[in-house]
Amino acid sequence: MLAANPPKGQINQGKMVCSCFGVGFKQIVEAIKNKQLSTVEQISARLQAGTNCGSCLPELQQILMNTVAY
Ligand code: FES
Repeated sequence: MLAANPPKGQINQGKMVCSCFGVGFKQIVEAIKNKQLSTVEQISARLQAGTNCGSCLPELQQILMNTVAY
């Protein structure tokens, strides 16, 4: 049976959001919460997500709006 777990030794980053830089959903949410990011530009500066083709920018904005920064 196939499992949805990452290969051994790799961190589960959740659903891939930015394929250009391999940035996953969980990684983005954790960065927003832990680093108190409040703009897409801050996410891009921190994780590189959104800094190449830009196709993930709407999803980054959506994740930002749905994530409460602590
Ligand atoms: S998919 Fe994020 S910059 Fe291309």
